Amino acid sequence: MTNNHHQHGHHPTEHTGSHSHEHSHSPEDEARMAKMLDLDASVLADHLAEVTDWIAGNAGTPHKIADLGSGTGTGTIALARHFTAGTVYAVDSSKTMLERLHSRVVALGLNEHVVTVHADLDAQWPEIGNLDLVWAASSMHHVAKPAKTFAEVFAAMNAGGVFAVIEMDGFPRYIPEDLELGTHGLEARIRAIIDNRGWNKYPDWETDLVAAGFEVEQRIFSYDFAPEPEVVGPYAELLLGNVRTGIADQLSPEDLPIIDALLDQAHPAALVNRTDIRLRGSRTVWLARKP
Ligand SMILES: C[S@@+](CC[C@H](N)C(=O)[O-])C[C@H]1O[C@@H](n2cnc3c(N)ncnc32)[C@H](O)[C@@H]1O
Repeated sequence: MTNNHHQHGHHPTEHTGSHSHEHSHSPEDEARMAKMLDLDASVLADHLAEVTDWIAGNAGTPHKIADLGSGTGTGTIALARHFTAGTVYAVDSSKTMLERLHSRVVALGLNEHVVTVHADLDAQWPEIGNLDLVWAASSMHHVAKPAKTFAEVFAAMNAGGVFAVIEMDGFPRYIPEDLELGTHGLEARIRAIIDNRGWNKYPDWETDLVAAGFEVEQRIFSYDFAPEPEVVGPYAELLLGNVRTGIADQLSPEDLPIIDALLDQAHPAALVNRTDIRLRGSRTVWLARKP
């Protein structure tokens, strides 16, 4: 972890080789990102439910709720379902994400409980106050000045309210040990390159949250399970395909053909043809309370 707040860590899915800021992403990047976020939510549904339950259990009965950097609505929908008497304000700087979120919310019959707010948190805090619960999943490492945003969140909250900051501890791991193919150590080598590029990089948020006035508790939620092959195969393929595109220039000549075999649907050992994929990873949650 780092304390460099000016990093803009990216999900491999949003990555096309540039390190440009979030707002300059092309519609194609955003569509790819949206698809990945939806897949994350469906493959990791049980894990996310565990995270949501812990936060919800600490939040009392919130009336006004905000999801900052809502993306396609994974958090918004979980919150709207949990707190049926509340209103969730889904805040995002991307219209593509908000449009997708809106369609999902309508399809689920939750639109009376959800308000989309198109706003760039780097520019100006949106007109939302008296919040009882604020949720920010994989989004605070995208804002330019987290300390400023945390202070704005604090000011927009009611006393006793909860601000949940959630980050993915790196990307899910999924490459099986395959002696014949020679995958041993491959995931660690990929991880080292990704970490070095600063994707998904975030600091320990506790310092900034405490500085903003919050009382903070932290918990790590891990998962290690074997989803249905037909679900996890395409998911792992998408993740590895994005890695392949993003870091091809840094992969060794020994690793490239192994990755290509894993991505080659005609290959018997390809990710989509395997039945031995376990998904492993974790999320860190900072539960910050306004005294
Ligand atoms: C990695 S996605 C996470 C989405 C969602 N919270 C989830 O967990 O699935 C980050 C989201 O933050 C949004 N975002 C990034 N910078 C932002 C900013 N300055 N203001 C508002 N939203 C921002 C992006 O558009 C994107 O939808």
